[in-house]
Amino acid sequence: MVVLASCVTSITYLIGAVINATTLSADFHSVFVVSATIIIIFLVKGLSQYGQAILLTRTHTRMTAFYRAALFDRLLWQDVNSLSREHSSETINRLRVSAEAPARALDLTICAVGREGLSVIGLSAVMIYRDSALSAVCLLSVPLLFVLARKSRARLDRITMMSIKAQSGVLQVLQETLQGMLTVKAFGLERLMQDRACREIDSARDADETIAQLTWHFTPLIEALSGCLVALIILYGSYRIIFAGATPGDLVSYLTAFLLAYEPIKRLGRFPLDIFNVLPGLRMLYETLDLVPPGRDENGKPELVVTRGRIAFDRVTFAYRQDVPVLHQLSLVAEAAQTTALVGRSGSGKSTIFKLLLRLHDCQAGTITIDGQDIAEVSRGSVRRRIAYLGQDAFLFDGTIAENIAIGKLDASAEEIAAAARAANAHEFIAAFPQDYQTHVGENGRALSSGQRQRIAIARAFLKNAPIILLDEPTASLDTISEREVQRAIANLCKHRTTLIIAHRMHTIVESPVIHVIDDGQVLETGNHPTLLRGGRTYQTLWSELQVQHEDG
Ligand SMILES: Nc1ncnc2c1ncn2[C@@H]1O[C@H](COP(=O)(O)OP(=O)(O)O)[C@@H](O)[C@H]1O
Ligand SMILES: [Mg+2]
Repeated sequence: MVVLASCVTSITYLIGAVINATTLSADFHSVFVVSATIIIIFLVKGLSQYGQAILLTRTHTRMTAFYRAALFDRLLWQDVNSLSREHSSETINRLRVSAEAPARALDLTICAVGREGLSVIGLSAVMIYRDSALSAVCLLSVPLLFVLARKSRARLDRITMMSIKAQSGVLQVLQETLQGMLTVKAFGLERLMQDRACREIDSARDADETIAQLTWHFTPLIEALSGCLVALIILYGSYRIIFAGATPGDLVSYLTAFLLAYEPIKRLGRFPLDIFNVLPGLRMLYETLDLVPPGRDENGKPELVVTRGRIAFDRVTFAYRQDVPVLHQLSLVAEAAQTTALVGRSGSGKSTIFKLLLRLHDCQAGTITIDGQDIAEVSRGSVRRRIAYLGQDAFLFDGTIAENIAIGKLDASAEEIAAAARAANAHEFIAAFPQDYQTHVGENGRALSSGQRQRIAIARAFLKNAPIILLDEPTASLDTISEREVQRAIANLCKHRTTLIIAHRMHTIVESPVIHVIDDGQVLETGNHPTLLRGGRTYQTLWSELQVQHEDG
């Protein structure tokens, strides 16, 4: 940039020399030398410009890559609570904008301070050398630009945030339309989604237009001011040539320097505005980077050691939102190597019990122990490694069936994967596909039925070979036929393992040796099916409701 600025500056100086050589001394030899020099200067200028662009781009791309990786890392280690506060598309957009912000800020700063600043300094030197009084007048007008720019800062900041929000909105509508395509089509929501998208698109457009307006609206004023200065230079310079014996080279050189300096000065004047544009992104970046990753503040904690796999909740109290407790002093025990069922109405807190066991959240009072070790006192990772969790609908990653099963054990061999699939009662349907284990499951496994997805998830759990199994209504979204298939797979999986199952199907409940009846975040009754039918009032009500449902079904 220094080379570049020197090249620009020397050209203006040389132009003055050419004018004087032709008009005053008629020295053609000098003109020839100057022309040759100018060719060299332009070549050097081109080379330095190339070098600068390459270096700047390299810095830009590396910085962006670095911050992308850093942000993704923070995202991975955030707890589910803080992530679920905003829409996923907003998170994606926020990460995109903030990852690019530092590189954009650096580009702007380097260009402003480096290229424009150095050019202005060099050209000012030529101007001052030619005429110091006039230069003082010209240069004094520069600070005015900065004062003007500062005034727009607060508004620009706000509008930029609005623009980012609107972009997230567009992304959100797009994402929900794609994910909910079936619902959109079935309910004929095309117009509604179109209107929603247009609202966000329009507000993004409006915000961007306002930003452009705010960034450019001083331009007429600045141009008028520059016009006055050019007129002043011409008047004053010509006066000096005609009445005070100055050379024409002085005027031309001065004017060239001014005209060349004038664009960089304007860009310098816009610099604060451009930077204000990037600041919200930078702020978001550091908000994310400054988050303490909750998964990491427990490096020193010991590993969970599972010998038998006995789980005990002791007076556990937990609330998602302050003052709205979901679990009230809940106590329960799941004996080792045995299946324990949790039953209760929807919303009674059953899934929450699993989330606490997986340490997705920490309880506010009470303790949860596995084989006598408080799970809050051992590392999160070790707790999760000992637990295989299966929910209502398994999440499959885009990829092959084999890859999806191998999630349970990343280095599993093809034989291990096939063995797990057999145990999960999934081998048959997989083998029926033309590409068997190499079949692509599509985004979120949409090429498979929910019963097939569920059995792939069970195969994962087999590979993981964890001593503790958590099943959250694993057959809830299945029809009777696939339920039977999945049920057999689950029965295999639970053998000799501590299993907690949130059950809502009659025969699962009947077969469980121990049943806890959960209501309003508490265990009301405990026992097996016959004893509860005799003695448990809540259980009796639940059971009769289930029977009615069963008959309806
Ligand atoms: N992430 C969450 N944020 C706030 N409240 C929640 C959240 N998850 C569940 N809840 C509330 O906690 C209660 C228990 O939920 P849950 O454990 O899922 O019930 P169940 O599995 O028994 O149907 C419900 O009232 C539900 O609204
Ligand atoms: Mg639930």
